[in-house]
Amino acid sequence: MDYLIKKYKDIEVAWLPELNGGGMTHGQQFIPIVRKVYGKVDRIFEFCAGPGFIGFSLLAEGLCNSLCVADANPSAVKALKETIRRNRLADRVSIYLSNGLNDIPKTERWDLVVANPPHFNAKQRKPRSGSRLAGASSAKKTPEFWLIEDHDWKIHKDFYLKVQKFLKPHGKILMQENYLGSEEKDFIKFIELGRLSLKRSFMYKVQDEKAVNSYYFLEIENTSQAKASRFALSKLRKESHEQNEAELPDIRKADDFISQDNRRHKILSGLLMQREDIKPIRLVYPQQQKRQGASRFANANKRAIKLAPWQKYRFELKNSTQRCINAGFYRENPPAFFKQKSMLSVPPGGRKKSSIFHLTKGAYIFIDLDTKEKIAEVKVE
Ligand SMILES: C[S@@+](CC[C@H](N)C(=O)[O-])C[C@H]1O[C@@H](n2cnc3c(N)ncnc32)[C@H](O)[C@@H]1O
Repeated sequence: MDYLIKKYKDIEVAWLPELNGGGMTHGQQFIPIVRKVYGKVDRIFEFCAGPGFIGFSLLAEGLCNSLCVADANPSAVKALKETIRRNRLADRVSIYLSNGLNDIPKTERWDLVVANPPHFNAKQRKPRSGSRLAGASSAKKTPEFWLIEDHDWKIHKDFYLKVQKFLKPHGKILMQENYLGSEEKDFIKFIELGRLSLKRSFMYKVQDEKAVNSYYFLEIENTSQAKASRFALSKLRKESHEQNEAELPDIRKADDFISQDNRRHKILSGLLMQREDIKPIRLVYPQQQKRQGASRFANANKRAIKLAPWQKYRFELKNSTQRCINAGFYRENPPAFFKQKSMLSVPPGGRKKSSIFHLTKGAYIFIDLDTKEKIAEVKVE
């Protein structure tokens, strides 16, 4: 097999495009987070590893002594084996072909579990007939099936129910999720059923000019070690950001961490603590349909709204008949990096899928994807 190679320090990771689930891009957010929050640990497990971009880069960075990687896709496991062979890592890395945690030896014990699992509940997505996703639940699994779909959150649920016995008492889990596919509350029940506790949820703040970031992290601990389930759903709603922040000793010391209220918003990277206060943005267009309270697109004939960067916004977009629409948005004059990204879609209201975004500074154009009509200009500043 002719693999592509991605180098992390001294480690050459073998990969194929159809195995890349973002570990090379957003998955790299794990590296500074693990370094800041945990430092070096003994053994890391990468669940849903694909080619192991995350796990191998943590190993290359000296953030663990040994690594365990597993995936259910036999092609991913072949690539993982090739990486081990090339780098002579057999004594430091264990690989398992495993559906969930079913085929992980009972003797495995981990200090830290990292994962960038499939981010979308397949039930929410209705693949168009003829699309590559259609029929994905049948025996023949497409690359997209492996990478993004988690039917009924089964992979997540099964993982949370079984993982605790593999964790060392102080062990932690750091899961990367995507607000385009989920919210914290989708997983809390599974976490608690698995005798685990959601400690906090945060985003890693990428450079402002670079991206719309929808990835967030759940930090989960062994219930036996948890002082309390500080992030249980009820508390998620009430808890103040300051309390969360105080638990992270690094945050106040390190200059590149940022707090929720953006007091230090000049700082470009860091952890952005999440809580359940999501600002709703309800846009109705055209403008004559505006009713009091129904539109933030207010005080004007111009369809322009101003938002603050890095706040958690949920968009609900309707047309003049109050029908929720399929909308999309793109960044005006994007930096070169952003141009490669396709338009982001905001699914219709009443949908199960989340439409939460954190926007970085810049001007954005919202359009109705069906009529191609421009709905609004959004300035984030
Ligand atoms: C979003 S991709 C992430 C891949 C890689 N970690 C990365 O970041 O590029 C999700 C991964 O989960 C794996 N996967 C899907 N279903 C699984 C299951 N039931 N058990 C274990 N792994 C699974 C897929 O094969 C795929 O490699």
